[in-house]
Amino acid sequence: MAAQPITHIPCILLCIFAWVCHAGKTSPYVRSTDASIDMPAHAFPPPRGNNTPEQVHITQGDRGGRGVMISWVTPLQPYPNIVRYWKANDPDKTVHETYSRITSYRYYNYTSGYIHHANIKKLEYETMYMYELGKGDAIRQFSFKTPPKVGPDVPYTFGIMGDLGQTYASNSTLEHYMANPKAETVLFVGDLSYADDWPLHDQTKWDTWGRFVEKSTAYQPWIWTPGNHELDFAPEIGEYMPFKPYVHRYHVPYRQSGSTSPLWYSIKRASAYIIALSSYSAYGKYTPQYNWLEQELPKVNRRETPWLIVLLHSPWYNSNNYHYMEGESMRVMFESWFVKYKVDLVLAGHVHSYERSERVSNIRYNITDGLSTPIKDQSAPVYITLGDGGNIEGIANSFTEPQPSYSAYREASFGHAILELKNRTHAHYTWHRNQDNVAVVSDSKWFFNRYWFPKYESV
Ligand SMILES: *[C@@H]1O[C@H](CO)[C@@H](O)[C@H](O)[C@H]1NC(C)=O
Ligand SMILES: *[C@@H]1O[C@H](CO)[C@@H](O)[C@H](O)[C@H]1NC(C)=O
Ligand SMILES: *[C@@H]1O[C@H](CO)[C@@H](O)[C@H](O)[C@H]1NC(C)=O
Ligand SMILES: *[C@@H]1O[C@H](CO)[C@@H](O)[C@H](O)[C@H]1NC(C)=O
Ligand SMILES: [Fe+2]
Repeated sequence: MAAQPITHIPCILLCIFAWVCHAGKTSPYVRSTDASIDMPAHAFPPPRGNNTPEQVHITQGDRGGRGVMISWVTPLQPYPNIVRYWKANDPDKTVHETYSRITSYRYYNYTSGYIHHANIKKLEYETMYMYELGKGDAIRQFSFKTPPKVGPDVPYTFGIMGDLGQTYASNSTLEHYMANPKAETVLFVGDLSYADDWPLHDQTKWDTWGRFVEKSTAYQPWIWTPGNHELDFAPEIGEYMPFKPYVHRYHVPYRQSGSTSPLWYSIKRASAYIIALSSYSAYGKYTPQYNWLEQELPKVNRRETPWLIVLLHSPWYNSNNYHYMEGESMRVMFESWFVKYKVDLVLAGHVHSYERSERVSNIRYNITDGLSTPIKDQSAPVYITLGDGGNIEGIANSFTEPQPSYSAYREASFGHAILELKNRTHAHYTWHRNQDNVAVVSDSKWFFNRYWFPKYESV
């Protein structure tokens, strides 16, 4: 984890070149080519005790942040299916209880443990809560902090990760994220466990992933987006139901946003309106996701939540040879809406690398006009690709050359990002590569809100 020296001369030359040509930057930083190997299962044994709750994770459980969905797995028996919780600073320690709903699933010859989802509601804003699961020798305690009440100038800090997997590099990404004390909630842009890279989509990899990330997911909400590795579609072994393991294990508050599927939904948190979309569900005209998004975007009240952020897995603007143009069909369907509604940021994963775009759009093209080139557009989102979590498939280190004009910064390294919403006009964004210590900022940018402060943003 020691910082590697940067060779300054090529860097300076590159900067001069970039300035003269007004081009984006391809970082000269090159990640060491260590193989991306999964951490062994024995690194993540089940917690001690009888039927002890494990794989604990929380997410926002309602529309505006007063609800928390607490999920966990008990390996042997469904009961007790209760979560006890209390305010951390309550001298009386008044304990509340909520029961979980229990589910489980079979996948080929694997049977999951009992998967619990307990939605606790009407919590106080900006309050630290303790919660407790299990009984007897199997009690485990955790804590979380509720967000502030939704409002236009409420500062809040998100972390962003994607394509995490469970390798030693994944551990480095997660540790770097957790060492950064600022962020309070993770925006996760898809591809969780990579169980499907193993024979028979080895479902025990979902269990080890749940144990691996628990050090963060039990304490901070992770806002989920489905990726292609959540599909687990394997007709050759009789598994015909896309997303079966994912939708059993990861619940999100989709009904509260009028969605009919856990694969796309929205929440409000502090000063942000967050829309998660599914790159791997139908989005053509008349489909459920299309109809939902068409009705959803006009509902966003920027006077309440100035920051409009979209999460999706397969990037629309990316200049890496890996997965090149896979997001194109979804861009064709939705990009004009994103420009019309002035989406601030589109966060994606999928490509195992890092890239940030200019504000660009490509919505003029109507076949007869031939105008099929992305152009600078100050009403357009910035597109950020953060598929750089460090999973088993390794780094995507082959960029298209020359760097296209829509690409502002790109680098073949693993890392995570931090997004600090300061007020209705300003947000500060930083990206942190794993090779450096966490305080090192490898890419940074002030974003100006597209609704309240649509000031010109350059590279
Ligand atoms: C499932 O089948 C595979 C391949 O036959 C085998 O290696 C594995 O042990 C089986 N798992 C269970 C839980 O039976
Ligand atoms: C993950 O990283 C932490 C911090 O560096 C370390 O203590 C832990 O042993 C790592 N886990 C594995 C399985 O290597
Ligand atoms: C396509 O765009 C061109 C140029 O803006 C315009 O003249 C033409 O009417 C458009 N065609 C259709 C079918 O909308
Ligand atoms: C919003 O935040 C930015 C950055 O911290 C600051 O410069 C600006 O003055 C703030 N605006 C208001 C109205 O406070
Ligand atoms: Fe992916």
